[in-house]
Amino acid sequence: MTQKVFVTRKIPQEGLNLITDKFEVSVWPNEVPPSREEIIERACECQGIVTLLSDPIDEATISQLPKLKVIAQYAVGYDNIAVEEATRRGIMVTNTPDVLTETTADLAWSLIMSTARRIIEADNYVREGNWNVAWGPELLLGVDIHGATLGIVGMGRIGQAVAKRALGFEMKVLYHSRSHNAAVEELVAARSTDLDTLLRDSDFVSLHVPLTSETHHLIGERELKLMKKGSILVNTSRGQVVDQDALVKALSEGPLGAAGLDVFREEPISNDSPLLKLTNVVLLPHIGSASKKTRATMATMCAENIIAALNGEKPPNIVNPEVL
Ligand code: NAP
Ligand code: GLV
Ligand code: GLV
Repeated sequence: MTQKVFVTRKIPQEGLNLITDKFEVSVWPNEVPPSREEIIERACECQGIVTLLSDPIDEATISQLPKLKVIAQYAVGYDNIAVEEATRRGIMVTNTPDVLTETTADLAWSLIMSTARRIIEADNYVREGNWNVAWGPELLLGVDIHGATLGIVGMGRIGQAVAKRALGFEMKVLYHSRSHNAAVEELVAARSTDLDTLLRDSDFVSLHVPLTSETHHLIGERELKLMKKGSILVNTSRGQVVDQDALVKALSEGPLGAAGLDVFREEPISNDSPLLKLTNVVLLPHIGSASKKTRATMATMCAENIIAALNGEKPPNIVNPEVL
């Protein structure tokens, strides 16, 4: 009997093409994501499900999907999935690491550069017809990136790719992770510090930890107060790693000079968020991995994980191998 797969949103065709001739595949047709009830209704007869980071694949959802063998996340982060519950029920969970590392590091750098040099403000200034006198000796002054100190929180795949790029800017790189890695330290010329020292000494702080119970609000009011006056926080990890209310305060009252944010406490961000009123933040709609090539590769990878799992093989990117 043909196995069934539910895909919670249209992903690039490259991935769908690989699974449509092997399984009975149904793809959620709308841009508005399926609710928990709709996921359960559509996936309750399925052996496989392709999920996005916004889908609530928690214990309550998983318990209603009795036939499920594999949850293939179309993302590297999988904090929306109750992995322990999946493991308990013998369900494999897979993700899409590595292929999005460089693309996401590029985006973190876009945020570093656009906040430091006030690119969005400057573009708006020109568009709105304000540049009508002359070259301005003190117009839209920003801060230097070259030679500054960059603090990386979470020196994993993406953290390392961000650090590597800092070499070209002759930056000093500090990092904080739970473990040390001498090879990485040498490769990207980074020095390990505790989190407080990193926050006190960095001109730019870029977050690259996964969201876990340990990293939830890792950057709270106390941590923001430790940061240098005028320093810049960049977050491409997960919104909940930062206390967003404390961040708004640190951006309005100091010490922060600016922030570049790709991720938020709630996504989409609400229309009345105070962040929208601040000019010293750059706000992006969670597009870290959003290059055409990378998203197509992620779709292929996701499909290969589903195919392996439903063929009874070990998926290449299993995050809970203990289930096998
Ligand atoms: P990764 O290779 O697993 O790196 C994460 C690093 O964080 C690890 O090196 C880990 O090192 C460190 N870490 C974990 N817990 C920590 C803690 N409590 N304190 C300090 N460091 C900690 O993951 P990745 O591929 O780089 O991805 C990182 C995250 O980026 C993903 O989980 C995802 O949430 C986010 N992401 C976002 C986008 C986007 O579109 N904005 C795109 C891709 C990924 P230790 O184990 O040594 O602590
Ligand atoms: C994106 O946020 C990802 O985790 O891949
Ligand atoms: C600026 O355009 C300069 O020539 O200094």
